[in-house]
Amino acid sequence: MDNYAYLLIDKQTNISAVLDPSEAEPVIKECEKQNIKPVYILNTHHHFDHIEGNKEIKDKYNSKIVVSINDLNIIPSADIGLEEGDIFNLGNSKAHIISAEGHAVGHILWYFPSEKNLFTGDILFNLAVGGLFEGTAEQMWHSLQKIKKLPDDVLFYPGHEYAVYGLNSLYGPTGERYAAKVKERLSQGIPTAPFTLGEEKICNPYLSCSNYQEFYEKIIS
Ligand SMILES: [Fe+2]
Repeated sequence: MDNYAYLLIDKQTNISAVLDPSEAEPVIKECEKQNIKPVYILNTHHHFDHIEGNKEIKDKYNSKIVVSINDLNIIPSADIGLEEGDIFNLGNSKAHIISAEGHAVGHILWYFPSEKNLFTGDILFNLAVGGLFEGTAEQMWHSLQKIKKLPDDVLFYPGHEYAVYGLNSLYGPTGERYAAKVKERLSQGIPTAPFTLGEEKICNPYLSCSNYQEFYEKIIS
């Protein structure tokens, strides 16, 4: 109902990937529509609602499953494990792997600096952050600080559609513009993502915290 899966295509080579397919059917339907044969399946973490489509897509397209090194023996049929600092080549597009603990052990972010795209899985959502299911508030804080250091004009793509739940946390002119954009996109039946990190740094109540204590009080309440 609220999961996002993403199709990534390197325009120079046409090499493509599916990121976090929670289910196979709608992904395969879109691949067929666009005549895409995903060479890779990329996962941000091992939770079922990000990997359930892996097997069927792999069986159909013989895709390689690329995951966090932590998840290599956890995610079924995973082929390649990556860790912080690794660079993954999707054709000529380069993804930098950023480790981001706090929600799931071994969670990674997929960051394409040249394309200015960041896939945040269940670490950062529009106006929210992931639950502390397999980590601590401190780990989540450190993960968010890594994201905060990335340029403001990077577009980020979250694992779920949660923006609507955060609308009442918005205030001020930037917040009002953010809320208007969310409402407009929802009324058109399109995803609220992507927003820029610059907008998120101001409007996300967790990402905007200036110190750990402020963040801790918010996340445990
Ligand atoms: Fe998750």
